[in-house]
Amino acid sequence: MRSHWVENLLGCVDQSVVLCGWIHRVRNLGKLLFIELRDRSGIVQVVVESDTTAYRLETVIKVEGLVRKRDNNRVEIVAHAIDILNTAKPPVFSLTSEEPLADEITRLKYRYLDLRRPDMVDRFKKRHLIAARMREFLNGEGFLEVETPILTKSTPEGARDYLVPSRVQPNKWFALPQSPQLFKQLLMMSGFDRYYQIVKCFRDEDLRADRQPEFTQVDIEASFVTAPEIQSITNRLLKAVFETADAVWPHHVPVITYAEAMSRYGSDKPDLRVDLPIQDRTEWAKKGKFSIFLEAGHVGAIVVPKGATYFTRKKIDELGAFAKQCGLGGLTWIHRQEEGALVSPITKFFTEDLLEELLTDLSLEKGDTVLFGAAGRLNTLQVAMGQIRLWVGDAFCLKKEGFYPLWVVDFPLFEQDANQVLYPMHHPFTSPHPDDMALLDTQPHLVRALAYDIVLNGMEIGGGSIRIHRSDLQEKMLGLLQLSPESIQEKFGFFLEALQYGTPPHGGIALGLDRLVMVLTGATSIRDVIAFPKTTTANCPLTDAPSRVSDEQLKELGLM
Ligand code: AMO
Repeated sequence: MRSHWVENLLGCVDQSVVLCGWIHRVRNLGKLLFIELRDRSGIVQVVVESDTTAYRLETVIKVEGLVRKRDNNRVEIVAHAIDILNTAKPPVFSLTSEEPLADEITRLKYRYLDLRRPDMVDRFKKRHLIAARMREFLNGEGFLEVETPILTKSTPEGARDYLVPSRVQPNKWFALPQSPQLFKQLLMMSGFDRYYQIVKCFRDEDLRADRQPEFTQVDIEASFVTAPEIQSITNRLLKAVFETADAVWPHHVPVITYAEAMSRYGSDKPDLRVDLPIQDRTEWAKKGKFSIFLEAGHVGAIVVPKGATYFTRKKIDELGAFAKQCGLGGLTWIHRQEEGALVSPITKFFTEDLLEELLTDLSLEKGDTVLFGAAGRLNTLQVAMGQIRLWVGDAFCLKKEGFYPLWVVDFPLFEQDANQVLYPMHHPFTSPHPDDMALLDTQPHLVRALAYDIVLNGMEIGGGSIRIHRSDLQEKMLGLLQLSPESIQEKFGFFLEALQYGTPPHGGIALGLDRLVMVLTGATSIRDVIAFPKTTTANCPLTDAPSRVSDEQLKELGLM
């Protein structure tokens, strides 16, 4: 039916073509009618003479005509014939870029219309190219693409499972995979050596701008590898992908430990676009007479270059209120004025020598400001100062342009709750750090893991680890999570057994494809890069899923 896509018309001046698509806009100038025809690849103007048809927006048409040059970059079509292939109800919202976007629920309810918008089409084209380049890269590196089950047993990644009842075996349930973790490890036991899969994962967790209940991972596993080797493969994969998306993946990606990330940036996913590190000033602060510092266990500082120009009284107050929200008792500051004098509510509590020491240690230039926060617990201070760093970066536009990835390594193996119960920080198949093995029995909360995350502009875009490949260690790990031996057997017995049949050392990573596409297309919500996403309350306004089912269906499943 069609001879050309709109994007291929530039080289076809004076040729007859047949185009198919939708009416994007119509302008009627009496004798002449201008129709903008839109297909997936672009929009072209169609000039129609002596046609009195009242064309409506979004009507599906076929146009036969001659390509005519408009200017150096544009052509138009002089129409000979226009066929209406289907009529259209007036679109619920405008699909042109000049009009403001409709509200998101309406866009999601009429997603098939929203996806016609050229902005959306561009994002999905980019997503396609990114996924294709990933496959090409991984195929080239000798990885095999293997599909793993969706109807399966729970694979813990820290979220709740989506469950599917079995009809054939009443009262039994499948879980949808939170990730293919167990299966990719089983594939290593099978000797596949290098595996990947671009795969849907399901997690019933609270949703945010960068989270969906079903999302796509680029899941990778390899045998006989070290953590730096997985990081190197990932760096090269991302370099290739960034090139495809006309972006630059830096030549050198810094690697820092979890402990450094927390102390310098107050976050395990630091946004390096904001170059305002946290500096520990506890020792110095304890030498003065400022009671808040003396009572607090920990004092941290952030130097804001040329801060004196940004921090008006009002901004200081706003930041103070924000610091309280972040859990700090308050925030104090020292400005170094352009003439060199220090202005601050707290200088009176420190001797000249101590202030001089501070200036030297922080390399405080004229015009700079130091922000101080204090808290009883180190973690409270770090996290709060981490948020303050980002607040200042946003408030004063101090965020650098571009892409700033880093690896965060040596995560703790466990998180511990107030009752000293241990939870895996990643998942329970992550190998403890070999240097910390002895601590497993005595102080497991101090054990580091051979786990690594790749972080880009403050977003975790991937995470992985070297795995436990010995059955006894795996069993011990599960035992530390306070699972009873019966529960371990019931949940993971098959896996512990499999580990005993000659399991190679192995490790891998999973990248969040949606998040990567989000960053590379500049989208602010993950929903803008998923064709049919869920809302923040995990429903689909288009199909109205999840929905009730009939009593008969429930009965068949043995459910009330
Ligand atoms: P992890 O749980 O870190 O690791 O997930 C890997 C990456 O998947 C993305 N991601 C999400 N994206 C959108 N919505 C969500 N709800 C969501 N949850 C996670 C993130 C994250 O970095 N099996 C391990 C990987 C491994 O150890 O190899 C795993 O799933 O970008």
